[in-house]
Amino acid sequence: MHRNPLTIAIDGPSGSGKSSVSKSVARELGLAYLDTGAMYRALAWWVLERGLDPQDHAVIAQAARDLPLEISTDPGEATVRVDGTDITTDIRTTRISSRVSAVASNLDVRAELASRQRALITQARTEHGGMVAEGRDITTVVAPDAEHRILLTASEEARLARRATELHGSAAAEALDATKDQIIRRDRDDAAVSAFFEPAKGVVGVDTSDLSFEQSVQAVLDVVRGKVSTPTSPLQRTLPTERDRET
Ligand code: DC
Repeated sequence: MHRNPLTIAIDGPSGSGKSSVSKSVARELGLAYLDTGAMYRALAWWVLERGLDPQDHAVIAQAARDLPLEISTDPGEATVRVDGTDITTDIRTTRISSRVSAVASNLDVRAELASRQRALITQARTEHGGMVAEGRDITTVVAPDAEHRILLTASEEARLARRATELHGSAAAEALDATKDQIIRRDRDDAAVSAFFEPAKGVVGVDTSDLSFEQSVQAVLDVVRGKVSTPTSPLQRTLPTERDRET
């Protein structure tokens, strides 16, 4: 049992840097890490694998309840398995990216995955001193009681350039064009189920448009360490120390 368990919930649109920043923050603080988007992607993968109709609400909701998912919460090795198959790389392909919004907009799916996410957060608080959990509704629906709730934002221009570089190795005009659909259409579809461009009440906004990756990680650490005032935690909590972790 840890004395001061910590949950850091990080939300943000595609290309805001939330996955890589969250993972680094978790490593830096010695906490577990959960990529909730990977859970929706895993379900989309399974739906395709089994040839189910993503539009069939009841069938997809049942698939979510049955999903034999194992997701690692180690920030150094974030693997995803479904029914024993390692799909860590497969779920990042366009085949999955272009279909995931369809399953993520199913409210019964969201209820099931949110409940699994809460269980993982609770387990990490007991076993690892806490967790950095990231995803679209994490600050508002899944973990509204997290010690720190942060919305990473970035201008559309910055988000497009980052994702184009990630996917195509450059931010030249053709790469930007090829990426636009992924960023803009998916954000629009996803915004139908959760708002993530404006921080909700009590959520601290961190704009990373002009920040490098390292500066973005530092900006989040500054919020957690109380160097930036946080409406959620006026009384700063003590970060878990090595000694707490051993107890
Ligand atoms: O963050 P990502 O691109 O890996 O997310 C994959 C999809 O899942 C995307 O359509 C947003 C959706 N998602 C969601 O609806 N709720 C979450 N907590 C996380 C992701």
